[in-house]
Amino acid sequence: MEKLGRNDKCWCGSGKKYKQCHCAMDEKIASYAIAGHMVPEREMIKNPQQIEGIRKSGEINIAVLDYVAENIRLGMSTEEIDQMVYKKTKELGGIPAPLHYDGFPKSVCTSKNNEVCHGIPSPDIFLEDGDIINVDASTIYNGYFSDSSRMFCIGNVSEENKRLVEAAKKAVETGLSEVAPYHFIGDMGQAIQDYVNANGYSVVLDLGGHGVGLAFHEEPMITYIGPRGTEMLMVPGMVFTIEPMINRGKKEVYIDEESDWIVLTEDGSMSAQWEVTVLVTENGYEVLAY
Ligand code: MF3
Ligand code: CO
Repeated sequence: MEKLGRNDKCWCGSGKKYKQCHCAMDEKIASYAIAGHMVPEREMIKNPQQIEGIRKSGEINIAVLDYVAENIRLGMSTEEIDQMVYKKTKELGGIPAPLHYDGFPKSVCTSKNNEVCHGIPSPDIFLEDGDIINVDASTIYNGYFSDSSRMFCIGNVSEENKRLVEAAKKAVETGLSEVAPYHFIGDMGQAIQDYVNANGYSVVLDLGGHGVGLAFHEEPMITYIGPRGTEMLMVPGMVFTIEPMINRGKKEVYIDEESDWIVLTEDGSMSAQWEVTVLVTENGYEVLAY
């Protein structure tokens, strides 16, 4: 890593002198590294201009999901959700990040019931009475990425499944309450794991959250395992997703062979997920997309 003088311009691109910008923070991070902790690379720490870009991208992502929330209906196909997301994202000046990402064929992921994530919208899949569905939208705006998802209950959803959907939302909120500078990803992960297990559900461990902002998927990987005090140190300027997938049954999942995308629960049990993009701030956190 380049060694900067205190009067040199900061590495973050803010234009400020190093001593007035990231110098003190770098020294603090170094002390954690010496103590054996995993610490973020400079690439994982965003400057104010980048944060503003990601914030704007997040505003579009939120508006797209608000639009879905207003228009999602019993009997509609998941293809129609895809069209809504494409149309609204474009209208607001964004690009849907999933479209053609690694060969993904649609603009959004729609994952119903026992589908855990990465469900592919289709004109043959309809929203039926009692379905629970995750709509996962991601936006590129001006080169900046954001990523969030919500659950929707279609018609008369059973009390058990409603409870699962609520617990998945609460799991994200529980995780958020642990996001603060100089806490660890493991603190957040442990809190989610404990909350979900206490409610009798399981957390999928094969998939996690991720850094996001300058690319769709960046380091670090966000796990929900813990224990406290492990995994990467959180510092101001980091942006990542929290998106735990929780199952009514066992945590094991598999990828559907035909699509090579859709992730399903191994035991066929129902699965739910909410996702936020979060920024670590000087005193806590700011949700950039939900
Ligand atoms: N939020 C999902 C994720 O981070 C979005 C996946 S979009 C896809 O994995 F194109 F990769 F499917
Ligand atoms: Co994501």
